[in-house]
Amino acid sequence: IRQEALAKVSEAADLKELQDIKVTYLGKKGSLTSVLRGMGNLSKEERPVVGEIANNVREAITKEIDEKTDALEQAALEEKLENEALDVTLPGRPVQVGGAHLLTSIIEEIEDLFIGMGYEVREGPEVETDYFNFEALNLPKGHPARDMQDTFYITNELLLRTHTSPVQARTMQHYGGTQPVRMICPGKVYRRDTDDATHSHQFTQIEGLYVDKNVRMSDLKGTLDNFAKSMFGDDREIRLRPSFFPFTEPSVEMDISCKVCKGDGCSVCKHSGWIEILGGGMVHPNVLEMAGYDSEEYTGFAFGMGPERIAMLKYGIDDIRHFYTNDKRFITQYHHAK
Ligand code: PHE
Repeated sequence: IRQEALAKVSEAADLKELQDIKVTYLGKKGSLTSVLRGMGNLSKEERPVVGEIANNVREAITKEIDEKTDALEQAALEEKLENEALDVTLPGRPVQVGGAHLLTSIIEEIEDLFIGMGYEVREGPEVETDYFNFEALNLPKGHPARDMQDTFYITNELLLRTHTSPVQARTMQHYGGTQPVRMICPGKVYRRDTDDATHSHQFTQIEGLYVDKNVRMSDLKGTLDNFAKSMFGDDREIRLRPSFFPFTEPSVEMDISCKVCKGDGCSVCKHSGWIEILGGGMVHPNVLEMAGYDSEEYTGFAFGMGPERIAMLKYGIDDIRHFYTNDKRFITQYHHAK
């Protein structure tokens, strides 16, 4: 039995065969097992002798099967490693890294600038009430200036905000008429416009508001001059033109001087040498009062600008739709903008 079993073990080619051999010799009905079972028929003297032999045989077979099992497993592992070998010297594939959208970069750049001047960044809801979008900004129902902003209404009282100015009113209310305010608010705004190269039914604005005792028009001018030079370069000048907004008095529009340059990438000013980039003014006393500020004691300035416009000027982009159509060729061009 021993010789026969050992010969089979050494010939076994896989683990399954080994298992079969184990069953054949050592299993419940195996040949060695029946020898051991048959020991009851032996004489007292024979029993220990046969028992010892049978045990030796079992041990030998078991040992041999275990060794063979290890050898087969080792061989299988080596074969697996061989097949899965990695050539670490092969050149890697380039990793696709994303980046910030140009609008995001521009907004962050402007945020950083105003944070440096002591402003906080706040947010407000895009679905806004008629009260904050219009009424609190000195635009009562039926005011003709409401037509300046074609509005998407949701219900009679709810709408998609047409500008970020409602956040002025919300912020002043938050500070309760007693504390100074210095905040900017970037966000999406919506207007009923037909999309073309310069119009979009959705775009972004950044609102600015500064309320304190003794805030003057010259503070607005200085702040905007600082902004324009940081954004577009020290060689730029600004000019304020009189304008009208119901929530500021006096109101202005700000132009920035065009850089004289040839070739690509310069801002395009068609005729005048100036281009408009934002609206602003001194916060209207009615707006201060409605938000709880005593307009005899507090004054303020506010402004609103369009990041798309600023990005278009800065990088010579000719169509506002590029910001929303998500053409990867456009988007990736500005991944390292700033
Ligand atoms: N909200 C105005 C607009 O959308 C811009 C503005 C903001 C004007 C703040 C004055 C003060 O056109």
